[in-house]
Amino acid sequence: MEEKFENKVAVVTGGGSGIGRAIAEKLAKEGANVIIVGRTEASLKETAEADKKITYLVGDITKNETIEQIIKTVQDKFGRLDILVNNAGWCPVQPITEVTIADYDKAFSLDVRALVNMTIHALPLIREAKGNILNISSVGATHRAKNLSMYVGAKAAVENFTRVWALELAEDGVRVNAIAPGAIRTNIWNVTDLSPEEAKKHEEGIAATIPCGRFGAPEEIANVAAFLVSDEASYVSGAIYAVDGGQGAA
Ligand SMILES: NC(=O)c1ccc[n+]([C@@H]2O[C@H](COP(=O)([O-])OP(=O)(O)OC[C@H]3O[C@@H](n4cnc5c(N)ncnc54)[C@H](OP(=O)(O)O)[C@@H]3O)[C@@H](O)[C@H]2O)c1
Repeated sequence: MEEKFENKVAVVTGGGSGIGRAIAEKLAKEGANVIIVGRTEASLKETAEADKKITYLVGDITKNETIEQIIKTVQDKFGRLDILVNNAGWCPVQPITEVTIADYDKAFSLDVRALVNMTIHALPLIREAKGNILNISSVGATHRAKNLSMYVGAKAAVENFTRVWALELAEDGVRVNAIAPGAIRTNIWNVTDLSPEEAKKHEEGIAATIPCGRFGAPEEIANVAAFLVSDEASYVSGAIYAVDGGQGAA
């Protein structure tokens, strides 16, 4: 039986951990060749060693040369690109009274600028393949919370890019969608710059707003991602899928 993503090629940014890793593993398991990118070689290597369909590239996607290197690697190795998953992201947690412009630059250079840069560079190949793009947003883009202005501002931009790009690229046969995850158990909760006590309080505050009563697992995002980037979703474009245990229903 033919696998769902046979002969397809996917790039997953931030594919060495958390949600990106789960997406990369799921796509590879269903037949795709997947290139994952991140700054930490150990986690990328571990992910790639678990499935021979996954290869990795070490680099910082806020740098133009990394983006160019990703596209060159895809071209040289596979000659095509069907699926781009813009997943890498970072979630700063600070009240605006403490935000510096350097904090803004750090958040927006990854969550916004790198996502746009990656998309611009991947588009010629994606259009040639009549492929699709999946952006990873956040429930926070539409359900705001204190101390997250830089993050939810960035993700609001991601959701609007998703919709406008879907409008613009439809005539090329290219679909663009996003997933807005709720609270998912990954390392992102440990890299906030908060003290352990503050981080615990922040996490408890979020947990109290989840109707399902628990954090999600990265695999629960990957299941929806695999649907959205597949032909099963051939009539889905410009959609923002909530995968959040009901958090965004309020
Ligand atoms: N977990 C949640 O509750 C949640 C909720 C809503 C949305 N999201 C979104 O889900 C996405 C994935 O996050 P996650 O929860 O899976 O957290 P994560 O495990 O921390 O994943 C973030 C990934 O991005 C990579 N990354 C960070 N900076 C990078 C850079 N400059 N260049 C290349 N790669 C970079 C990281 O690898 P390196 O550090 O090795 O570079 C890591 O693999 C993010 O966009 C996040 O905003 C998560």
